[in-house]
Amino acid sequence: MTRRSVAQTHANIALAKYWGKRDVAANVPAVPSLSVTLEGMRTITSIELAPDLTADTFELNGEPAPALALERTVTLLDRVRAAAGSADKARVVSHNDFPTSSGLASSASGFAALAVAAAHVYALDWSLERVSDLARRSSASAARSVFGGFVELGCDLPASGVLGASVVAPADHLDVRVLVCVTSEGAKAVASTDGMRRTAERSPYYAAWVERAPVMFSSLKAALLARDLEQVGELTEASALAMHASAMAAAVVYVTGATLQALAQVRELRARGYAAWATMDAGPHVKVLVSAADAAAVRAAMVEVPGVLRVLEARPGHGATVVADDAS
Ligand code: DP6
Repeated sequence: MTRRSVAQTHANIALAKYWGKRDVAANVPAVPSLSVTLEGMRTITSIELAPDLTADTFELNGEPAPALALERTVTLLDRVRAAAGSADKARVVSHNDFPTSSGLASSASGFAALAVAAAHVYALDWSLERVSDLARRSSASAARSVFGGFVELGCDLPASGVLGASVVAPADHLDVRVLVCVTSEGAKAVASTDGMRRTAERSPYYAAWVERAPVMFSSLKAALLARDLEQVGELTEASALAMHASAMAAAVVYVTGATLQALAQVRELRARGYAAWATMDAGPHVKVLVSAADAAAVRAAMVEVPGVLRVLEARPGHGATVVADDAS
């Protein structure tokens, strides 16, 4: 008999960034983070358990996945099999409808979808918090994509050993859009896991980041709960700049000329009265947090920035769902 589960998740963009690990082996973040899950920017992952399989396989966007991605996938599946008392191998097929491994948070929605589909197909009766913890062990930002709306992930591992993300506010809490300004179609130069490790090892500013980030996180969370978009925006941009400054001091540089031009455009738009703030992850793209009212005008201005190839617009969206579940 063949069992199959299909999960759908969305990317998330951190407003208060996670950068650095408190515990590398257990993948516990060094700082708390707060993100918004985005409608659109979707991953769909199907996992099939079939008796003829002798090893796990992983197809990503229509091609066999790179060795490292397969290895990380097998690690997650092994955790699930151990909990389920199963030896069944899995056929994993995953699709992103946005560029993979480019700083557009594809690992977040990817591991979230994998965790949700795996827990389901191996019939584990786990809470969403537990599934989020499973995703976190593979990629900490993935813990947040299990949930919709505005989501936080702490950095203190409880005695239970389960550290999952949780919802701070629903998707309709704040009427905002995120404009993803794509500045390159290629894979990022330094994967986030490596970038964090190098930052922790070499940056003279890493300690300052770890000390300061929780303060920014708490202020941002309070501003979000108070629906103070101005403060949320200021702190979002401040968090990204502090993260990148600490990384840059360790020669981990994600920004390009196009990134800087896009940042300058966002500052200029703000000076003209638009409610728009920038953030960047482990890649050259700029994501603009903008009020829904200003989204169209800001989008038109961002498309004009030299080096910005295209602009995707997303609104706060839903968490993970199981979209199919069958046995044949
Ligand atoms: C800059 O979650 O990709 O996007 O846990 O090592 O897989 P690992 O790192 P990952 O890092 C994401 C970093 C970030 C900020 C964020 O999403 O909070």
